[in-house]
Amino acid sequence: MTNAYTELPETELHSLEAALNKEYELVAANKLALDLSRGKPSAEQVALSDAMDTVIDGNFIAADGTDTRNYGGLRGLPEARELGAELLGVPAANVIAGGNSSLFFMHLCAATALRQGLWGDERRWSNDGASKVLTPVPGYDRHFALTAALGVEMVNIPISADGPDMQAARQLAADDPSVKGIWCVPKYSNPTGCTYSDATVHAMAELPNQAAADDFVVLWDNAYAVHELTDQGDQLASIFDAAHHAGSAEHVVQFASTSKITFAGGGLSFVASAEPVLAAIERALSFMMIGPDKVNQLRHARFLRGRLQQHMQAHAEILKPKFAAVQEILHAELGDLQIAEWTNPIGGYFVSLDVLPGLASEVVSMAKAVGLTLTPAGATFPHGDDPQDCNVRIAPTFASLEELRAAMQILTLCVKLASVRKLLNPQ
Ligand SMILES: Cc1ncc(COP(=O)(O)O)c(C=O)c1O
Repeated sequence: MTNAYTELPETELHSLEAALNKEYELVAANKLALDLSRGKPSAEQVALSDAMDTVIDGNFIAADGTDTRNYGGLRGLPEARELGAELLGVPAANVIAGGNSSLFFMHLCAATALRQGLWGDERRWSNDGASKVLTPVPGYDRHFALTAALGVEMVNIPISADGPDMQAARQLAADDPSVKGIWCVPKYSNPTGCTYSDATVHAMAELPNQAAADDFVVLWDNAYAVHELTDQGDQLASIFDAAHHAGSAEHVVQFASTSKITFAGGGLSFVASAEPVLAAIERALSFMMIGPDKVNQLRHARFLRGRLQQHMQAHAEILKPKFAAVQEILHAELGDLQIAEWTNPIGGYFVSLDVLPGLASEVVSMAKAVGLTLTPAGATFPHGDDPQDCNVRIAPTFASLEELRAAMQILTLCVKLASVRKLLNPQ
């Protein structure tokens, strides 16, 4: 026997709608205020790094003798660059360590590629008029917002469990010299949670060689490099090695941060690439600052050195029950109804839920009406435009387990009710 809503006779759908409506009205009467929209670490998670407060303890001098209280050191403190190197799996010489927010470095990198060029020569995205960047979708809304803010167009390509559709990427990049780059979240991608396969990583490293543009850049945002939920974790192949092998090292720029390791509001960020690119970024930085916050860099290095994995395990212990609850409730409530599909990542910060086409905005507003805030429908697509209107991003980290469970019950109820209504009134 099937439980699929799509197989139910109309009479059953009508009684189902009545029952779900009743449930929905009961939820509305509770006047809840729940939020699953924010991909933020919880208070319990940020508290794991409270001991950073005391690691300086009057000793501001870095291992190489640098007085971190003073100006200078645009590329960052050696110990901070080593931390970035550990996160990204590259030599420290290829890393610049900055202040809070890797998004800052992403914006700086894209803006520099556009206006001054990344290689100390004449190549600039703006030389050829309009430029475009490939955007695997669903993806990270802030990548899209910063790209749009720079006046760069976005061309969507699909993403699957192995990562972006590389055939589509290759074709678009090879056919059009105004295609200048591609956004990547290679591990525990936001929002699907997929990790790029080895074949995808190698194909990505070849992409700058195949692109018609000679200033193509792979923007490799490894925001969730060490954010495992299981002991084993997904293994991401090294884009650094692959790019060296492909001869494209100057066209791959990697980013990471400690935003979801220590303090999201007081962490470190890193950018890694080949020397000409680092020099261009350092030069761009030099117009903005005399040096980064090296005191924060020093305390991060001292706090995390030799214990990064252990620290991330403590995060995982907090997050595992939350991600498990999301899967449990999705499975129990929507399991065999054939009205939704979702991902089950083993790391990162998100679960991606696809509902029936045309229903994502309806589900999000139905949830909002009874006190559950979700990421706006469409946010995982450039310009907020999900052509199928089917993707809903679930961010389970910030809410307490109790709130999360309540929120998931409401979300699944809204998915069921919206689906039944659509099946009764298709058009
Ligand atoms: C893929 C991705 N990159 C970057 C960020 C933000 O990073 P940061 O805090 O270092 O700017 C996020 C935050 O959600 C993210 O999901």
